[in-house]
Amino acid sequence: MEITPQPAAPASLRQRSALRDHLIRNQSMKRVLITGGAGFLGSHLCERFLSEGYAVICMDNLITGSLDNIEHLFGREDFLFMNQDVTEFIHVPGRLDAILHFASPASPIDYLELPIQTLKVGSLGTHKALGLAKAKNARFLLASTSECYGDPLVHPQPESYWGNVNPVGPRGVYDEAKRFAEAMTMAYHRFHDVQTRIIRIFNTYGPRMRLNDGRALPAFMGQAMRGEPITVFGDGSQTRSFCYVDDLVEGIWRLLNSDEPEPTNIGNPAEMTILDFAKKVVELTGSASEIIFKDLPMDDPKVRQPDITKAKSILGWGPTVDLDTGLRRTLDYFRGKVADERDQPAAKAASAVPKG
Ligand SMILES: NC(=O)c1ccc[n+]([C@@H]2O[C@H](COP(=O)([O-])OP(=O)(O)OC[C@H]3O[C@@H](n4cnc5c(N)ncnc54)[C@H](O)[C@@H]3O)[C@@H](O)[C@H]2O)c1
Repeated sequence: MEITPQPAAPASLRQRSALRDHLIRNQSMKRVLITGGAGFLGSHLCERFLSEGYAVICMDNLITGSLDNIEHLFGREDFLFMNQDVTEFIHVPGRLDAILHFASPASPIDYLELPIQTLKVGSLGTHKALGLAKAKNARFLLASTSECYGDPLVHPQPESYWGNVNPVGPRGVYDEAKRFAEAMTMAYHRFHDVQTRIIRIFNTYGPRMRLNDGRALPAFMGQAMRGEPITVFGDGSQTRSFCYVDDLVEGIWRLLNSDEPEPTNIGNPAEMTILDFAKKVVELTGSASEIIFKDLPMDDPKVRQPDITKAKSILGWGPTVDLDTGLRRTLDYFRGKVADERDQPAAKAASAVPKG
């Protein structure tokens, strides 16, 4: 008898059965859904929750993330990747104890190129994720951002500061999407009694950032390692503060397990000018790159420094990884990426330029 090959099951059917299997395999375990789990921060969170004994569902449409970030987790019984856009209907059968909503383009280059997707994931995506949290009685944590403070007129920025955002400028798509997401999260908390947490993340860095994502740190490191000029915007006097990813993940873990529904800043208050930061990268890499200056992008914040008094007092949290240590670890990761570029020149994206 001739056997007719069966068409492959549609992705959604395959995903449904994968979800069912994941549920059956991990029946006795706590389960967490991490949206944006294939991104820089999301992939570190997947690892942390697995190490804490959770079964993890990582949901991502790979618009800015990469399977490279999570491929080492494939094959684990307690880990499942779902290729899905969170702005569409989300179905997850069975128990869910927590939802961490990290899906969103996050670097200035990304959200300037993906303005509609950024607004949609902050609004529709947050709504869908909150609806699921309500249905599952799961704790919900929103990845918000220091960009909620816009170009701040208060320095450093405490959570009580309402910000100085230009809603119709190019960065407004990201800032307003996150501000809307915060408002929606508080509404689900107040109106539906969902256990919600909001973290306002300040610039975070570490392995698995993309070399060409347009953020200052990977751009400087890539340029320094390739021997290209380091591009500083404006005169470089604008300040930033950089938090190492492991410190951030610890803060997220503590906030999720706390009782605090109001927004909480997590970031490293050690502030430096972008010019000093560029010099530090040149020194660490031993590069001969010169530093060049270009026009400052519109609405680029002039200062950025978290006030972490609240995180210290309610979470007992503070950064533990100093900049030199964090930069060395990140540099080791980027060395491999720059070497890959040399081996595969076609893979090299246009030289990265920092925008924030
Ligand atoms: N890295 C930082 O310094 C920083 C600072 C403030 C806030 N945040 C927030 O943290 C989160 C993660 O940032 P990141 O730096 O890891 O960025 P990232 O781009 O590496 O990760 C974001 C992930 O979300 C996914 N995604 C985007 N839209 C989606 C959609 N509609 N459906 C499913 N997946 C989608 C992307 O594919 C990507 O994997 C974002 O919400 C960002 O706003 C990050």
